[in-house]
Amino acid sequence: MLLELLLLGALLIGVYFLLHTTVLKLPRCKSTAKLHGKTAIVTGANTGIGLTTAKDLARRGARVILACRDRQRAEAAVQEIIKDTGNNQVIFMQLDLASLKSVRSFVENFLRKESRLDLLINNAGLISDGTTDDGFGMIFGVNHLGHFLLTVLLLDLLKASGPSRVVTVSSRGYKIGNVDFNCLTTHKDLALGNSNYQLFRKYCHSKLCNILFTYELAKKLQGTNVTCYSLHPGAIKTDISRYSSLWWKLLFSPLFFFFFTDAESGAQTTLHCALEQGIEHLSGHYFTHCAPLLNIKSKARDDAAAKKLWELSESFCGLA
Ligand SMILES: NC(=O)c1ccc[n+]([C@@H]2O[C@H](COP(=O)([O-])OP(=O)(O)OC[C@H]3O[C@@H](n4cnc5c(N)ncnc54)[C@H](OP(=O)(O)O)[C@@H]3O)[C@@H](O)[C@H]2O)c1
Ligand SMILES: *[C@@H]1O[C@H](CO)[C@@H](O)[C@H](O)[C@H]1NC(C)=O
Repeated sequence: MLLELLLLGALLIGVYFLLHTTVLKLPRCKSTAKLHGKTAIVTGANTGIGLTTAKDLARRGARVILACRDRQRAEAAVQEIIKDTGNNQVIFMQLDLASLKSVRSFVENFLRKESRLDLLINNAGLISDGTTDDGFGMIFGVNHLGHFLLTVLLLDLLKASGPSRVVTVSSRGYKIGNVDFNCLTTHKDLALGNSNYQLFRKYCHSKLCNILFTYELAKKLQGTNVTCYSLHPGAIKTDISRYSSLWWKLLFSPLFFFFFTDAESGAQTTLHCALEQGIEHLSGHYFTHCAPLLNIKSKARDDAAAKKLWELSESFCGLA
């Protein structure tokens, strides 16, 4: 009996290692680009995938702006990045994506202090209940709307600094997402309800918004030297479920622990989209595993929905 158990244990460990070296292994960004003289903004750069992304860009010599909501957490990340990379052109600028006013003052502050923008990395994201300062569902407000306004307000500088790129971190979860325009117009949210499951659904809806936003943005950017990409980073061990209830955490932490990959691997597709030369003709595409996904679901290529989401977002932001 003991022997059988030991054999079974060994087998399980073997299968687990095999899984991590094959299916779960994420490819690395192959670009050797140096970024001296270039400026990048990374939203939500104080932890998780944003932190490893910002660190990589800093290591390549870029001037990196950490656009974060919490000064203390962001300053700690600034110090960590400077220490690890030796690049001291790493700066915190306050940005709370749950407030359109904060987005506007971030951009004013940025435009006053900086003269160029080569990379805008829309990385911040969350799963949480509540509403934003402007009364939008928190998940929609932060994951989509805040980034929408941020990008639109920075477009002139991106165009003037071209070739430049906008990279938006979405998720494979978009597959079970949909955009309910009726709910958006009547309730300023992607769906109703605040159960863990409903919040997860809203998160998936918001990640579809990220893809549709990028798809529409690419159309608007035709003829400029600005390109844009959306992506799935992989299943990554971060603190993204920190606002979830205890039982949800208990349910998912073993999954996270055993089957999710580290945050440095999680930055690779973002870095690929930001740095790889010769992908400009793929502007508007969705990437995963450092490659474009060409057979994406048709709901992520819905021209009418993408246009409608853009126009509604403009009106929500008081732009139209
Ligand atoms: N982890 C995964 O497996 C996975 C899978 C698919 C997609 N993604 C996507 O990857 C991106 C990064 O996620 P992550 O896993 O690295 O999560 P994370 O560790 O929770 O980091 C999220 C970042 O977003 C910031 N943020 C949240 N609300 C904000 C707001 N109102 N204003 C400004 N910043 C805000 C957080 O700041 P605070 O520290 O202040 O909260 C944090 O810096 C997200 O867009 C997520 O949807 C992740
Ligand atoms: C794009 O960049 C190229 C090369 O730098 C430049 O010649 C061209 O004028 C730029 N186009 C626009 C629309 O700015």
